[in-house]
Amino acid sequence: MAEVKKIAVIAGDGIGPEVIAEAEKVLKKTEEVFGYRFETEHGLFGGIAIDEKGTPLPQETLELCKKADAVLLGAVGGPKWDSNPKELRPETGLLGIRKELGLFSNIRPAVIFDCLKDASTLKPEVLEGTDLIVVRELTGGIYFGEKFRREGAHGEEAVDTCVYNVQEIERIARQAFEIARTRSKRLASVDKANVLETSRLWRETVIRISADYPDVELEHILVDNCAMQLLRRPSSFDVIVTENMFGDILSDEAAMLTGSIGMLSSASLGEGAFGLYEPVHGSAPDIAGQGISNPIATVLSVALMFRLTFGYHDAAEAIERAVKEVLDAGHRTGDIAVDKSKAIGTVAMGELIVNAIRK
Ligand code: NAI
Ligand code: MG
Repeated sequence: MAEVKKIAVIAGDGIGPEVIAEAEKVLKKTEEVFGYRFETEHGLFGGIAIDEKGTPLPQETLELCKKADAVLLGAVGGPKWDSNPKELRPETGLLGIRKELGLFSNIRPAVIFDCLKDASTLKPEVLEGTDLIVVRELTGGIYFGEKFRREGAHGEEAVDTCVYNVQEIERIARQAFEIARTRSKRLASVDKANVLETSRLWRETVIRISADYPDVELEHILVDNCAMQLLRRPSSFDVIVTENMFGDILSDEAAMLTGSIGMLSSASLGEGAFGLYEPVHGSAPDIAGQGISNPIATVLSVALMFRLTFGYHDAAEAIERAVKEVLDAGHRTGDIAVDKSKAIGTVAMGELIVNAIRK
């Protein structure tokens, strides 16, 4: 019998609970089909936690996550809490949970489903075969460096500092090499080593770590060129690793190759196998409660969890295949439908996917 894996499930706000419900059905189905065993426990987080517990990240939710093998998160936030003070905002909970769980990288796959090529603004022949992952460093760089204002010779000045240490670069580089190993063994390291000192340290460190991964083909690419090549030849990339700000921008650019935010999964990882998995989209208050949200981003986040945390590649593949099969058969939620009048709802989409999961 397979070992029981503990999954902390945090539905959150808006469409979070709707999409999480479908992802939980997928978990159940993979137990039946593959014999894996999951124990799920729900926690309050985000706006709903503010309402019920007076804080976006209650201690008991944090404990729940810490004793779990993985976390599955819906989405948090909404207009109701937007004007709250900082400590009572859902996003503060998001930053807090990443920090408390030691998550230092954000992983975002961008996969083109051939039958959805028309949803992108790029030409179908450019997108053909695109299946890449952006690995973004999450805890260092200019977003976390010292920031201040001062009076300069020409009036007010603002300063942001960018700092990276060797240890921060090493751990994300190793993680990216490990992920590349499970895929097509190609890694592109993105930096701006022609002008930035942090990028020169980044490149030196990545080169040093690469000695431990002789089976992975390493390419260095400057960030401005990478931004261009993502649009010109996206299918030539496999795993892209980069620092925080470059990764923020490039992962959003890569996301848009696919056309719809309702399709995009993500993972945040730390040391070891533990990870937090969530759709890239937010709580979509404009459509919450209508049962029309697309559950695929969350369902694919479960597949990512199976791959990166549990090593259940067979079940991950079965989920991805089921999603493809349902899309190929022409089923669409509103966000990816060309003919909106034929769109199906969240539950119908979830059930179709669940029924298509097989060995
Ligand atoms: P959003 O991703 O929630 O929505 C953007 C647009 O995409 C909306 O029109 C929405 O209806 C649509 N959309 C998103 N997910 C969809 C799905 N699964 N199926 C169909 N359509 C979908 O981003 P927005 O509107 O900027 O933010 C709304 C709230 O979510 C805010 O409070 C924001 O702070 C929060 N947010 C939370 C995130 C998280 O929990 N990690 C990430 C991004 C935003
Ligand atoms: Mg962004």
